[in-house]
Amino acid sequence: MSRLDDGLNVDAGGFCRNPTSVYADPDLAERERQAFFAGHPHLVGLTGDLPEPGAFLTSDDLPTPLLATRDDDGRLRAFVNACRHRGVVLEERDRGGARRFTCPFHRWSYDIGGALVGIPNADHFGDPDKACLGLVELPALEEAGLLWVHPDPEGTIDLEEQLGPELQAELASWNLDELAYLGRDDYDVACNWKLAMDTFGETYHFPSLHSETIHLNFYGNVQCYDTYGRNHRMLLCKRDIDGLRDLPEDEWQITTAALPVYWLFPNVQLMPFAEGIHLVRAYPSSTDPGRHVSRITWYLRPGPAADPQFREMLTMISRGFGSIIRDEDYVVSASQQRTASSGAIDHVVFGRNEPALHHYHGTYRRMLNMEPLPLLEHP
Ligand code: FES
Ligand SMILES: [Fe+2]
Repeated sequence: MSRLDDGLNVDAGGFCRNPTSVYADPDLAERERQAFFAGHPHLVGLTGDLPEPGAFLTSDDLPTPLLATRDDDGRLRAFVNACRHRGVVLEERDRGGARRFTCPFHRWSYDIGGALVGIPNADHFGDPDKACLGLVELPALEEAGLLWVHPDPEGTIDLEEQLGPELQAELASWNLDELAYLGRDDYDVACNWKLAMDTFGETYHFPSLHSETIHLNFYGNVQCYDTYGRNHRMLLCKRDIDGLRDLPEDEWQITTAALPVYWLFPNVQLMPFAEGIHLVRAYPSSTDPGRHVSRITWYLRPGPAADPQFREMLTMISRGFGSIIRDEDYVVSASQQRTASSGAIDHVVFGRNEPALHHYHGTYRRMLNMEPLPLLEHP
């Protein structure tokens, strides 16, 4: 509120130049795919995506095809989504409920915990030891309502290291484990996944790009910004903040004043609001550095989740929010990609009021052992 009144925004203390090649270079795209998508734990959803034993979800967004389930004991499990006989993808649906996964090729079947439980004509096949042919299991961890899977069977998930205790505690305070899944939209966009992420990194563009949409409900050019290791949190300032001015401070709600945006490295934006949460995840194309898919999902808190009218309204609002990202943000992202792919300019500039971009690209480079981007006095 004081920043708003004083006309102050966050200040990174200088400029930095980001090479446009990071959005277009195929060799770098392969390196980041190995480091951040094959070799990094991923947020595959929230507790509400797997609401009861037998629930499953699949993902083809990472180099390893995933099948995540809630087993009979209620535990999160994750597997390579491939039959151990001759490798057919076992479950083609996005999400659902199942007692068994049955392969369409020769009807081998697996239970929800990944055990091989049926082989037709096993004596003809040669009676293999079923215990050796369960689904390949992947490391999985459910913590504070977040579902984490490592796409490498030998990988480890260390949230202390990845998020740190402070951010872990703050994420836990949102009670994300209570939320129910409501819906999802997917956008296939002609831009690098990092350009999609970059659009979430500042509110400098609200009065211009979103003049008829987001800017009607949010102040631009003002925010709070805090880092947590490789992650960070922005607070986007809602116009409703003015309604708090006449209220005693102990009645202030952060969700009235702001939209918190948690940027979880490498590809997640988590945006909690009073009745639920929006989750945006961006995944690179495996073949084209100039393409990515964004998956936008939304979830509801238990009270409102029970009311069909409220669900319908929130779905409409969430689809509307997603379509602003698609029709406004991602349009400029695709335009930035054309410039990056052409190589016509060799770098872009991040301003003092865009610290999230400094931090994100700095983290990205550090984790790939690239030269840091120096802080400059002049762009
Ligand atoms: S490939 Fe799955 S049963 Fe043969
Ligand atoms: Fe935007």
